[in-house]
Amino acid sequence: MKFFVDSAETEEIQAAKRLGLADGVTTNPTIILKSGRGFETVIREIAALIDGPVAAEPVCSSADEIIREGRLIASWAENVSVKIPLTRDGLEAVRVLSGEGISTTMTLIFSPAQALLAAKAGASFICPFVGRLDDVSHSGMDLIAEIVALFSNYPGIDTEVIVASVRGPAHVIESAMAGADGVTVPYTVLEQLMRHPLTDAGIEKFLSDWNKIAP
Ligand code: E4P
Repeated sequence: MKFFVDSAETEEIQAAKRLGLADGVTTNPTIILKSGRGFETVIREIAALIDGPVAAEPVCSSADEIIREGRLIASWAENVSVKIPLTRDGLEAVRVLSGEGISTTMTLIFSPAQALLAAKAGASFICPFVGRLDDVSHSGMDLIAEIVALFSNYPGIDTEVIVASVRGPAHVIESAMAGADGVTVPYTVLEQLMRHPLTDAGIEKFLSDWNKIAP
């Protein structure tokens, strides 16, 4: 399963890369805002850091604008994936951009119908949001299971399902069990995935006993 880093912080991306957990990176306007730096600067820097796709999201609403911005953003680096919300104009834009060989990531996906349309449009990746669905009392993981089952009926679909809005280790493990192609996770979740209280307790006990061994 692929691990994307949901971050625009270069230190976090580099740390994930050292762990072999930076198969790609996703950003959104909120993540770029948090970085405190400019959109183009951040995307160019991240794209140079990793080999995998870097999802970069322009903010525009008409298909023509999305296509224009998408072509520009895609010119910044070969591994940029233009991230586009699932709207009618977004679908039109993805059809055109993917037809030109530009990688696209359809985002803000909350239903199997939206996932299917994104695949039909030729999106390289889709990002269904599990945490935000859970927040409104719907099961985010049910959505992932439905999308994976639906895509598996059609071997011709090569759109990858990258689970987004991941809030903790359970979302990661359930995504893997559902057969998602990948997850995009905040760095804090990567750290949570590594830790177990019994591992910490075991290390503490071994260290304490090691210090008692006579030289
Ligand atoms: C990634 O593609 C999404 O933009 C991100 O995972 C959203 O996460 P959030 O719902 O925690 O903001």
